[in-house]
Amino acid sequence: MIQRIELNGPDDFHLHLRQGEQMAAVVLDAAKNSARALVMPNLKIPIRTTAEALAYKDAIVTQVPGTGFEPLMSLYLTDETPKEEVRVAKESGAIVAFKLYPQGATTHSSFGVTNLKGRYGVFEAMEKEGLVLCLHGEVTDPKVDIFDREKVFVDRLLAPLAQAFPGLKMVLEHVTTQEGVDFVVGGGANLAGTLTAHHLWINRNDLLVGGIKPHHYCLPVAKREEHRLALVKAATSGNPKFFLGSDSAPHSVGAKECASGCAGIYTGRHLLAYYAMAFEQAGKLEALADFAGKFGAQFYGLPVSDQKRVLVKKPESVPLDLDYGTEKLVPFRAGETLTWTLEA
Ligand code: DOR
Ligand code: ZN
Repeated sequence: MIQRIELNGPDDFHLHLRQGEQMAAVVLDAAKNSARALVMPNLKIPIRTTAEALAYKDAIVTQVPGTGFEPLMSLYLTDETPKEEVRVAKESGAIVAFKLYPQGATTHSSFGVTNLKGRYGVFEAMEKEGLVLCLHGEVTDPKVDIFDREKVFVDRLLAPLAQAFPGLKMVLEHVTTQEGVDFVVGGGANLAGTLTAHHLWINRNDLLVGGIKPHHYCLPVAKREEHRLALVKAATSGNPKFFLGSDSAPHSVGAKECASGCAGIYTGRHLLAYYAMAFEQAGKLEALADFAGKFGAQFYGLPVSDQKRVLVKKPESVPLDLDYGTEKLVPFRAGETLTWTLEA
């Protein structure tokens, strides 16, 4: 039985770090679990310009001196993003992607895009500069059931987009459905998908059966068990189109446990252990290293990281809560014992 796993990097290609004291509370977890992370730009006031992203990057690295942690930055795409910003972003060397949030789809998405066609000029510029378009793949049409929003996004928006821009690198973020997996698998080499640790673990029963579980609520919302199984299969398949993107998204206990709880699951502290357990349960532990440390880098055109992380087969308990600035947050699988531990 495997007792020790050595991983290059790893890279987390989808991470929320927030800002201020909330960032200070979670950024070290990121630096411990990953060498590089693509930081999402959905702050309360989103990161829309290269200058803002550079300042945000500075604020992040100042918090984790001596760790070698490298934040890869993304810009928040709005209806107003000028196509000139694409070249400026590319020339900065710090920005690797634009993030598209359909307006109203999730946390801090009120500045998001309302008209995809109106953004085609920006996409052309991104295609030319080799920047990646990261997609929150859910429609916001109130007539579409929340469990169908990813599938409908793929049919209505992503399929025409992929056809119009065969040379634009696109990532369907946090894939949660068989349909999303199938579309990524069937698409060109320009199309990839990230898979979160929590979506490899939970289905919609884990959210709703036996009492509502706010700490299992995220967007896209967890789907039926057959979809979870499709995600595990994709993650462990060795297909380089699928790689690690945690979508670790901290919210305070108060913001989660209330009448209109925020979407987001905090996996940052024990991230690699959650993935290792999911891969092990699928009998595919040997597929973890490429998923976590190679395929994403390849897709983004980055060298494989020269950092390493080691997981050892040793029990570790997940605390019931963690400090989050002046508040607390509840980590994923709080109170449970994990079977893999990240070596210090
Ligand atoms: O669950 C989520 N939380 N999904 C998202 O798309 C955003 C994230 C957040 O920022 O809290
Ligand atoms: Zn996210």
